[in-house]
Amino acid sequence: MENKMSGKDLVQKTLVLIKPDSVKRGLIGEIISRFEKVGLKIVALKMVKLDKKTAEEFYYSDENWLATVGSKTLTRYREMGLDPKKEFNTDDPKEIGKIIRQWLIDFITSAPIVAIVLEGVNSIEEVRKLVGSTEPLKAPPGTIRGDYAHMSIAYANWNKIVLRNVVHASENEKDAMREIFVIFKLEEIYNYTRNIEEVIY
Ligand code: TYD
Repeated sequence: MENKMSGKDLVQKTLVLIKPDSVKRGLIGEIISRFEKVGLKIVALKMVKLDKKTAEEFYYSDENWLATVGSKTLTRYREMGLDPKKEFNTDDPKEIGKIIRQWLIDFITSAPIVAIVLEGVNSIEEVRKLVGSTEPLKAPPGTIRGDYAHMSIAYANWNKIVLRNVVHASENEKDAMREIFVIFKLEEIYNYTRNIEEVIY
């Protein structure tokens, strides 16, 4: 059978992490089935407990990333009429991003996670759509975060914990390539054909 998947620019690989909250809740199977149902192909999969060094590499302290995360927090604080200085002692997005990064590292290393590389047409955007927005409170029903969580940014920060938002999904192609190879070795990523590809592509 001709492999229509090869040579297409829009076929991408992306990384999903089933975070400690979902592993502990027994949601691994349900979450994986969401991705399989839309026809995405699992090309790598493993359960792993990240050590601090790997987690630090995964959540690397890129200035833009820190500022983006912090800005998301600030936007919600503004919408809800809350004062970020109360929880963070600062309203500088980068400083807030740094604090959240530390919470993320502590949380992701607290228990095993399940890491998956998914392949499919525009898989990065597709997976982010299935996952839903960062804050479970704002993620619509039908999305993974909307269906399996309900926590708000305000509640998480007030308790000085990371948002329990079920999964991580790479944001863009550059991040996906970097993140995949923080977690997986090249030989752990498989290239194979499924019978259903004939009807999906
Ligand atoms: P981000 O990259 O903005 O979101 P996404 O996971 O949707 O790409 O943020 C990374 C993680 O940081 C996010 O999954 C959960 C955590 N986070 C908090 O714990 N509190 C916050 O206020 C924000 C904005 C993020």
